[in-house]
Amino acid sequence: MITDYSEIIDRVLIDEESLKLKIKQLAKTINDYYKDKDEVILVGILKGSVMFMAELAKNLKIDMKMDFMVVSSYAENTYSSGNVKILKDLDIDVKGKEVLIVEDIIDTGYTLRKTKENLINREAKDVKIVTLLDKPERREVEIKPDWSGFKIPNEYVVGFGLDYDQLYRNLPYIGILKRSFYEDIEDAK
Ligand code: IMP
Ligand code: MG
Repeated sequence: MITDYSEIIDRVLIDEESLKLKIKQLAKTINDYYKDKDEVILVGILKGSVMFMAELAKNLKIDMKMDFMVVSSYAENTYSSGNVKILKDLDIDVKGKEVLIVEDIIDTGYTLRKTKENLINREAKDVKIVTLLDKPERREVEIKPDWSGFKIPNEYVVGFGLDYDQLYRNLPYIGILKRSFYEDIEDAK
């Protein structure tokens, strides 16, 4: 496939149309689950979840508010450190609230385990997780999303919010990053 990004993208894993369709289906399930419940606080994990959060929210028909956290387990490389930090906290008090964590991808699981624990400690009424992507092969800690879009192979992906070194979040699809591309850079460090 020829794109402007053909230098860095090996192939498109999930195209724009498939993303939209899957997110509509996830929203339908989530609408059903929350239809007789109190308002829901959507907690987006920045920055990777922005595109997913926006597309999901457009399809929700429940009382909901949006808030965001920056939780980072990644430095500038492609491997998780297991060292999770909260860099930006929520504005909304989630005590007694229905909370839905919105995440781009579950990889090792450290980020979500820590984030979920943290929100439970604030006495949220309930904490659920929706993730667009899941790489089950890479899991190091036990954490299961309540709703998940696509299970993907153990490849580094970019686009639709996901980055490599803060780049490529703008791609409208999910693409597999060429190994040669980041291995060259890692070697050069
Ligand atoms: P975890 O703590 O290892 O589960 O890491 C989750 C976070 O790592 C995600 O929120 C992403 O920001 C990032 N991440 C994991 N895998 C990828 C990937 O393939 N591409 C881009 N970011 C990723
Ligand atoms: Mg993330």
